Amino acid sequence: MASVTSLSDNVQQHLASALSATLPEAAGADPLLRRSDRADFQANGILALAKKAKANPRELATQVVSQVVTGDVIKDVEVSGPGFLNITIADKAITGNLAARYADETGRLGVPYAEQPGTTVIDYAQPNVAKEMHVGHLRSAVIGDSVVQLLEFTGENVVRRHHIGDWGTQFGMLIQYLDEHPHELDHKDARVTGEEAMSNLDRLYKAARKKFDSDEEFKTRARRRVVDLQAGDEHTLAMWQRFVDESKIYFFSVFEKLDMEIRDADIVGESGYNDMLAETCRLLEESGVAVRSEGALCVFFDDIKGPDGNPVPLIVQKSDGGYGYAATDLSAIRDRVFNLKANTLLYVVDARQALHFRMVFETARRAGWLNDDVTAVQLAFGTVLGKDGKPFKTREGETVRLVDLLDEAIDRASAVVREKAQDLSEEEIAERGAQVGIGAVKYADLSTSANRDYKFDLDQMVSLNGDTSVYLQYAYARIQSILRKAGEVSPAAHPELALADAERALGLHLDSFAETVREAATEYAPHKLAAYLYQVASLYTSFYDKCPVLRAETPAQVENRLFLCDVTARTLHQGMALLGIRTPEKL
Ligand code: ARG
Repeated sequence: MASVTSLSDNVQQHLASALSATLPEAAGADPLLRRSDRADFQANGILALAKKAKANPRELATQVVSQVVTGDVIKDVEVSGPGFLNITIADKAITGNLAARYADETGRLGVPYAEQPGTTVIDYAQPNVAKEMHVGHLRSAVIGDSVVQLLEFTGENVVRRHHIGDWGTQFGMLIQYLDEHPHELDHKDARVTGEEAMSNLDRLYKAARKKFDSDEEFKTRARRRVVDLQAGDEHTLAMWQRFVDESKIYFFSVFEKLDMEIRDADIVGESGYNDMLAETCRLLEESGVAVRSEGALCVFFDDIKGPDGNPVPLIVQKSDGGYGYAATDLSAIRDRVFNLKANTLLYVVDARQALHFRMVFETARRAGWLNDDVTAVQLAFGTVLGKDGKPFKTREGETVRLVDLLDEAIDRASAVVREKAQDLSEEEIAERGAQVGIGAVKYADLSTSANRDYKFDLDQMVSLNGDTSVYLQYAYARIQSILRKAGEVSPAAHPELALADAERALGLHLDSFAETVREAATEYAPHKLAAYLYQVASLYTSFYDKCPVLRAETPAQVENRLFLCDVTARTLHQGMALLGIRTPEKL
């Protein structure tokens, strides 16, 4: 009810009916409508249709034009070039459509829900227990969170799964060490910070590692611990749980810094599938999908070979009976498909794990767990690079701690905010600094397509000029300040007013928010939304340069321009929210 048909969908429908009236066999054909510099929209679809019908494209185009109903929406349509259609929209329709979006009391700006929403299980934000988080975990969290927002906005039922690394042989060593030094994870205080939790874990990890590497007897005890853990020994499990709990304190502190909601109930780590592993193997072996090879349970693929030309199998169970990463992921697929009833499984994981997922998905397809109706996709992301274009490392060649990076981004952003701040208190500067700094990090990640590598360059990220979140946040805050300055005068649409070019360009772009969101959601491509928002801010800037708002010629024009400002602000606000980025009212 509150959903608004966009001008482009509206024109599309007009053209489609004109087309089928002219050429009945063209019913359902796509007129290929785009935004254009020459007119408001251009349709190129007639060329291909004419070719198929063996007709002259210009003549066909002229016939179609005579069938197009002009008036309230389409002001003018003409043939151009070899048979394109140039379409001009009535000013009234632009303002009218935006007014309908503005009136949407749900705050969705008239964006419709998907017609047939499904269930997507999304696997993202999956750090590893007892380990520091790094930039790769940042990417999974930031991209995943935005895709969750986008999908939920279109009405998709989204189930989040944080597949944390909480299982494996390394726990034998850690648990054994903790058992021998029982106070290593004790806290002085009831309130433990994430920082403290991580430094406890780090200290313990290093000490355990050292002992493991230098003390053969400890090594033996640690290995025995792995067996106890897998056998479900109560005391061993309780100690393992302490590592998980301590790590969660740390994870949650990082996610909070990232201004991201991660729910405990959605954390289902590798250990969560332990009970399914044996059955997964049995099903694969009985169906012949997996075979025993040198004692290990393997799946082979014709097209996956190692450097020596020999096939590289997916190992589901090792020859010593142990289960690894693949068995867990295959079990997780069964859980997500059969228990969570997913139609789509989405994995926001580093591109370097692409081969693993290719093999896992293919195995699941052979087993019949995935098929045409239930699909799995890896939303693979590229590597974060340093300024030198090499994978991001500290000067000492170590992986950079994510927390340090985030703190630095917040510091830089606070400096920018402080410099520009006019009437902000210290407390406000700190709050905005965090929103701007975290926004900058998220935006830099989301504004390039996920599969590409990108350079982590804080100077560029917090720059006020260019394609940054700060630029967008300032555009939003500037609009809020204009709306405040307008005082008694409220924004109001006046569809009867003629629009200036800059107003039309802004208005037409604002109207296409719904299409952008639809596309970004179906393609899992937040960068398309980011590019759209940057364009909103740029078009707004030229509108603001050319069209006085509070000093416009007539009171109606002042109201109408304030209205354009407000629709711009709401679009920026909603769009940024879908990227997980805040838009402070004042900057
Ligand atoms: N914990 C893994 C890592 O840090 C990512 C897990 C990805 N998800 C999955 N279902 N395998 O690399």
